[in-house]
Amino acid sequence: MEPAGRFITFEGIDGAGKSSHIDTLAAAFRRLGETVTVTREPGGTPLAEKIRALLLNDAMDALTESLLVFAGRRDHLRCVIEPALARGEVVLCDRFTDATFAYQGGGRGFDAKVLSILERITQSGIALEPEKMRDPDLTIWFDLPPEMAAARLADARAPDRFESQPAEFFGRVRQGYAERASAAPQRFVRLDAGQPRDAVWSQLTGSLVQRGWLQAGTSDVGASAS
Ligand code: TMP
Repeated sequence: MEPAGRFITFEGIDGAGKSSHIDTLAAAFRRLGETVTVTREPGGTPLAEKIRALLLNDAMDALTESLLVFAGRRDHLRCVIEPALARGEVVLCDRFTDATFAYQGGGRGFDAKVLSILERITQSGIALEPEKMRDPDLTIWFDLPPEMAAARLADARAPDRFESQPAEFFGRVRQGYAERASAAPQRFVRLDAGQPRDAVWSQLTGSLVQRGWLQAGTSDVGASAS
């Protein structure tokens, strides 16, 4: 039987501002009586968080990077995401497989066909049944020009292996997201993340109200949050 929960992922280049909206959205869902799991990739389990530290800090080639990303994802799906969805929860995940196609595929130029094979193997359920491949139900893409994202990141903490990439890298990552979005338009919602926070929040909640997943008026709550 299909899991009853809703699996929502959040994507965008570094500095797009997505993370600050996720907790506010979780609170909005909880006010409606939903149980919410907030998680992230790379990471989300003790094992996958160790893999995250390697990915962000250690030099490696694009295939190694991709294999590690999918290894962490398998553990995350098995231990956190699938069980939460089976319990009927809302799962809000900061990045998922679209990030692999955007960063390893677009940014690093790694073969998308190989990524598709790894995607199918990793996301085909515990028993590896391809017809049960787990995709997000909805993906919110915070889109903005790399120059604007770089300006936002300028005063942030010391950059990791990805954040320290040049603007051209993020141009390719952005293009990678655009290709994933046009291949699955019914799953993707593109937000103009260059707008002020309140306007981005309104776009975000508007898309959820449209699906009947939030009630109209939720946007007022986010606008007043920090
Ligand atoms: P975060 O800072 O948004 O948590 O993400 C950490 C970095 O990992 C971010 O720069 C994007 C990168 N990343 C990949 O390269 N491939 C992936 O599949 C994922 C999920 C993230």
